[in-house]
Amino acid sequence: MENVQLTIVDGIAMLVINRPKQLNALNKQTLSEINEAFEYMRDNDAVKVVIMTGAGEKAFVAGADIKEFADFSGAEGSDLAKTGHMTVFNVIEEFSKPVIAAINGFALGGGLELAMAAHVRIASDNARMGLPETSLGVIPGYGGTQRLPQLIGKGRALEMIFSAKMIDASTALNYGLVNAVVPQEALQATAEKMARDFMKNSIVAMGYAIEAVNAGMLEGAIGYDVEVQAFGDCFETADFKEGTTAFLEKRKPQFPGA
Ligand code: CAA
Repeated sequence: MENVQLTIVDGIAMLVINRPKQLNALNKQTLSEINEAFEYMRDNDAVKVVIMTGAGEKAFVAGADIKEFADFSGAEGSDLAKTGHMTVFNVIEEFSKPVIAAINGFALGGGLELAMAAHVRIASDNARMGLPETSLGVIPGYGGTQRLPQLIGKGRALEMIFSAKMIDASTALNYGLVNAVVPQEALQATAEKMARDFMKNSIVAMGYAIEAVNAGMLEGAIGYDVEVQAFGDCFETADFKEGTTAFLEKRKPQFPGA
């Protein structure tokens, strides 16, 4: 695998998203490799707990790869979201062993959505989190419209989506978006200590707990389908063309509002 590194030591699988020059943005290949890694870990008894993090000191994951989808049609947009849900984000949420996201910098858009699909989140004190999609003329398409309100409540979630602004690690802790904040140099050790604490308990029971907690969220499952359709619809708008073009041209967008 090129964009993902996987090491397994003493029951802990460390999965590193590794495209640091692009701030670990999730292109198709990276998503496919994350899927491959989880398929491998599912059947591997040496893996008890998974820690996911980003390569480098700047970013966990800065989002879906904007360069890759800027020219997509509505149908291609919906397909991108649906494939992401099915092959990565739902796979992580439903993974039968605990998954901890160690957020070591920017977790934006699809990057925050990846962290939210994990069961538990720990952030470094320099981490910044947000769903900036509306600044590109699109909506969160990898489960963010569902998982963010589940974690922090509807009002705060919609404020984050409408403003497209980032929050810092202490605000994220205050919102309950992350379970703990630690200095960046302590992040890995803290995540590993949490993993070792989990491993003292029954992995089988934790798998059932994940299943039961997820089942309690199923009432809103239709929301994921609405997100896929609406994400695609955004790709047909002039605002989306302007938003993504402005990002690629490194300028502020002038949204036509259509
Ligand atoms: N997609 C593609 N490339 C990205 C990227 C992304 N999401 N985020 C960063 N990069 C690239 C930049 O284009 C740049 O590449 P070049 O050197 O080739 O120009 C490189 O990573 C470094 O980034 P910056 O120079 O922009 O770094 P910075 O420190 O000035 O800014 C940042 C950091 C604020 C995180 C900025 O990179 C940024 O705003 N990134 C985009 C964040 C974003 O909008 N994410 C949401 C994506 S949409 C989405 O995720 C949809 C979904 O829900 C499915």
